[in-house]
Amino acid sequence: MTTDLKLTDLHPSADDIAGDVLRGLSSSPKRLPSKYFYDQRGSELFEAITRQPEYYPTRLELAMLADLGPAIAAAIGPRAHVVEYGSGSGRKTRLLLDALDDPVAYTPIEISRSALTASAGRLDREFGDVEVLPVLADFTQAVPLPQPSRAAASALVFFPGSTLGNFSRDESVRLLAAMRDTMGENGAALVGIDLEKDPAIIEAAYNDAAGVTAEFTLNLLRRLNRDVGSDFDLAAFAHRARYVAAEGRIVTTLESLRDQVVTVDGRAFAFARGEEMHVEQSQKYSDARFDALAAEAGLRVAGRWNDGDDWFGLRLLRRA
Ligand code: AVI
Repeated sequence: MTTDLKLTDLHPSADDIAGDVLRGLSSSPKRLPSKYFYDQRGSELFEAITRQPEYYPTRLELAMLADLGPAIAAAIGPRAHVVEYGSGSGRKTRLLLDALDDPVAYTPIEISRSALTASAGRLDREFGDVEVLPVLADFTQAVPLPQPSRAAASALVFFPGSTLGNFSRDESVRLLAAMRDTMGENGAALVGIDLEKDPAIIEAAYNDAAGVTAEFTLNLLRRLNRDVGSDFDLAAFAHRARYVAAEGRIVTTLESLRDQVVTVDGRAFAFARGEEMHVEQSQKYSDARFDALAAEAGLRVAGRWNDGDDWFGLRLLRRA
């Protein structure tokens, strides 16, 4: 039962959606933060994206976690306290907990209370021997971990999905540095990263033929219309996702299909036809790019696993 869970509430400050949107629309070029994609409909659409044939990251990472379980378990050692950043569908968590040697506790860290209790409850029912200790907090800051009733040998932060790639470079360094504090002296982190590859494969993954990704991107405007009272016309914007080779990342924008004015909180924002508003970046990594990022955060790569085609990677990070 979710009500029996020992939830630690670190009182994360609530998002200032209206402020973020007004700031983003006032900047040039205009931008909206991708973290606002994930309302209930957005989370459902993201789940649907992970099942599209073109979207390879989830499929590959799941297969890797299933195949590499013994190698990962050997690198981590017994009695880990698994700490997950965010709470997805739980499929990856299950594979990791199944693979590890006698994990003592599982702590999902989430800013949304409803997402946290739902995922923690699911895992709690499934893994009777693993103590579930959810924490309501912002994982971009260092998080003091709850103490499991059975002593853990080490903490293992799990951050799958290449979600790291949705943060800017500066934000990624800060997030990894916070992760270093959270994992403690002899802890580790297992991070999923999408790797550099043929741009056509990457662009296809963010422009699926069924149009699910386009719907996901446009849902951001629907969500803002509901939650900040904006009046975006969804039919007047189009999803664009392009690989920027020099930066090794997919950049997603919403292109204005006509000259138009959008109102948010009584303020008018003019869009020219063809103007693109930045809504997401998704970094793809070479070993050199990722190792340098980790080093800047005081971490070193202690384990390195790729799928057979070198499309997706799992990296084990420890304090440098
Ligand atoms: C959550 N994140 C890692 C996804 C990605 O691939 O960057 C979000 C996404 N956006 C469009 N498709 C998937």
